[in-house]
Amino acid sequence: MFLFTFHFLCPKQLRLPAPPRWSPDFPGCGRPGRVLPRLLAQRGLGPPWCFFPRGYRSYRAENLTATESGFSARLHRVAAAFLPGAVDELRLELALETPARLRFTLRDAARPRYEVPLATPRVRGRAPSTLYGLQLSQDPFGLVVCRQRGGRVLLNTTVAPLFFTDQFLQISTSLPSHFISGLGEHLTPLFLDTAWTRVTLWNRDMAPAPHINLYGSHPFYLVMEDDGSAHGVFLLNSNAMGESRGAPGVGLALSSSSASSPGTCASPDVLLQPSPALTWRTTGGILDFYIFLGPDPKSVVRQYLDVVGFPFMPPYWGLGFHLCRWGYSSTDITRQVVANMTAARFPLDVQWNDLDYADAKRDFTFNKKGFRDYPEMVREFHDRGLRYIMIVDAGISSSGPPGTYKPYDEGLKRGVFIRNATGQPLIGKVWPGPTSFPDFTNPETHEWWHDMVKDFHDQVPFDGMWLDMNEPSNFVEGSQDGCPNNNLEHPPYVPGVFGGRLQAGTICASSQQYLSSHYNLHSLYGLTEAIASHNALLRVRGKRPFIISRSTFAGHGRYAGHWTGDVGSDWEQLYYSIPEVLLFNLFGVPLVGADICGFLGNTSEELCVRWTQLGAFYPFMRNHNDHGTRPQEPFAFSPPAQAAMRNALRLRYSLLPFLYTLFHRAHSAGQTVARPLFLEFPTDPNTWAVDRQLLWGGGLLITPVLEPGQTKVSGYFPAGTWYSLAGDSTIHSKGQWILLPAPLDTINVHVRAGHILPLQEPAFSTAQSRGKGMALVVALSLDGFARGELFWDDGESWETFERGDYTEILFLASNDAVLSQLLRASAHLDGVLLEAVTVLGVTSPPRRVLANGAIVSDFSYRSDTQVLSVPVSLPMWEQFVISWS
Ligand code: NOJ
Repeated sequence: MFLFTFHFLCPKQLRLPAPPRWSPDFPGCGRPGRVLPRLLAQRGLGPPWCFFPRGYRSYRAENLTATESGFSARLHRVAAAFLPGAVDELRLELALETPARLRFTLRDAARPRYEVPLATPRVRGRAPSTLYGLQLSQDPFGLVVCRQRGGRVLLNTTVAPLFFTDQFLQISTSLPSHFISGLGEHLTPLFLDTAWTRVTLWNRDMAPAPHINLYGSHPFYLVMEDDGSAHGVFLLNSNAMGESRGAPGVGLALSSSSASSPGTCASPDVLLQPSPALTWRTTGGILDFYIFLGPDPKSVVRQYLDVVGFPFMPPYWGLGFHLCRWGYSSTDITRQVVANMTAARFPLDVQWNDLDYADAKRDFTFNKKGFRDYPEMVREFHDRGLRYIMIVDAGISSSGPPGTYKPYDEGLKRGVFIRNATGQPLIGKVWPGPTSFPDFTNPETHEWWHDMVKDFHDQVPFDGMWLDMNEPSNFVEGSQDGCPNNNLEHPPYVPGVFGGRLQAGTICASSQQYLSSHYNLHSLYGLTEAIASHNALLRVRGKRPFIISRSTFAGHGRYAGHWTGDVGSDWEQLYYSIPEVLLFNLFGVPLVGADICGFLGNTSEELCVRWTQLGAFYPFMRNHNDHGTRPQEPFAFSPPAQAAMRNALRLRYSLLPFLYTLFHRAHSAGQTVARPLFLEFPTDPNTWAVDRQLLWGGGLLITPVLEPGQTKVSGYFPAGTWYSLAGDSTIHSKGQWILLPAPLDTINVHVRAGHILPLQEPAFSTAQSRGKGMALVVALSLDGFARGELFWDDGESWETFERGDYTEILFLASNDAVLSQLLRASAHLDGVLLEAVTVLGVTSPPRRVLANGAIVSDFSYRSDTQVLSVPVSLPMWEQFVISWS
């Protein structure tokens, strides 16, 4: 293998893995290889039965040239591709964008092809020194990316041939470890199974179940390397995609529709290989890869978000409790729900309505039966300090007589709908019956959408939008008239999409959008709708938009949050909600949560209590329920269950200043809010697969009960000191599993030594709680140190951080004192008092406590728990020092 040399070559000692053994027979769709463990067959995946010849070369690289940002080269195809539309000449661009970020693209050298319309950073020049080293194999072409230091190979595409045809692009790489996370949206654990797993990305309306493509596409993965370093890879491509982990892809799977073409086969797509590897297969576009070198996993996430965008800052009220169900069939019933919440003394910030409010289930209408006084209801909610959100479906009803439904009439006039093969709006079927689908890649659609949002908002002053059915979902396959029989509907290779065809559950792949075919743009539908809605809401309300969307794509978090769709009311889904929430945090969509108590089917009281306890730690906390199932609002349960839920809600409300500050860090610095343990403790491999617990930021560890009938729960505590938030117990862990008491009224929450959390007295809404007294929980490290911060603003104005209109406070504890430092001041905290400071880990009883030099006589200290409690009354907007001796 000839290697081009770069000045930043991988170190000499670099040893590439042995090249894969190709089968000597070609194209022989013959008998399976012999190495076939029964296991594979049991999983439904057999070995591929097509092989490429020994030393099969697909492309040769030539003309390596230095460019302003890195290198470019030409790739010539030197062997038959056995698929239609093979691209003969490719242009390779390698851009050394930053010291930790490498981008490489492979494009058709002769013709432009579809590229994802996501604005990524434009980088001029090349990073002077890099964490990565590179080798380029000339013939056959392949790229190797390694860590400069130590030489570990992170990406090696020489392990299998590259394919670049019009509708089938394949590239494979070895992986340096089995610990790979990402590649959502699927119902998976946090770390994926590398044993012959196929993953498919094609947004789909589908109740979450394992091994099925779900609502979103995030072609980004993060790998933990042996020593706790991490790297990430993002393939910026929006076409239907599948990748198999475990095989370097010497086998090739093709849909049965093309089984007769030479060299193709109809079997699944993996070949047993002992080393971990990953094969990307996509059905169009270009290969546009970003590699992030970390070297720690937090940096990998930030580097990914540098490319796709940091998350939006939600309004403060959006972090409160949201209540919804399908079946609140009138304003009276909706009002009664709010009244019941108040009577039962549950906090509530946002009341929602599902389709029930709409007239004949049509967007931007309300039915004049049950919802006659809809605008008044929303105004009443506002008067009580509540917010209001209603559902908006993607499909626009298209069957009414002209002049009866403005969104469709106007939309038709303005040409905003996706078109079928004859150039007419494609008509599918969703809740209102026949519907057309707005094309959010068309700028005119954004204007039309804004006008519809504004018209409706002028009548009903809603506060946020719930975007549903936006994969887009369609109850008929393709369209009411079917789909044309062409290569976009039936490409030579169809990834393992649920339903077997791209048009299954959605609109025709060959329908036309402003920017390109739906075939290319399908998985961007939810993202583009979220962008249009975000911009419309900002213009209409002039405040920070709040949007929750079911369909997502990479970069979604800049505009909106996500709920995890139609999860079942069962214990398994309760567990899966943790990896889902954690993964979406890695994807830069921190505002995420599952429907608390489950959506489909009847919940049980115990499940609903446990789910509310965990849900109190979803960044987005909403209880939502299907119609026709058992009621699951918190007030619908027995007094003890209600008490447990009330505790959980009050706990969340008391932690909101901390949560809001975490969102600020996500928005301003690309951090995660709900965080997997391995992000904080990457060098402790025991943490890597932990996905039955989660962290908020770096300082709060949540250990929920996820099984029925349990009063104890086992949790992993990384080495260090952990205090229960209630202050009644302390764990000094060497890095161990610990069994914790967990009666039904309790969720275990621990503060990590070294952290200071800002809290606020809970109330029945954030409108009230934002004015209440604050408190600090100071969790001292063994050497008496702790640190924390608070971000505060008016909670809803647009770009307060960007305009500098906020308060930021740093809290520091050391030498038997805790002090605040005002990093930035604004008037928004005026009137808010610090009322309590709880110091955890004070080893000897203090005799004297001072607050700003004045003696605090009513402090208390418990020597059994080593907790010092100091009642104070100090302006939060001024600096203070509290000391003990
Ligand atoms: C599907 C959504 O996932 C669900 O949350 C909603 O209740 C129904 N559509 C009805 O609008």
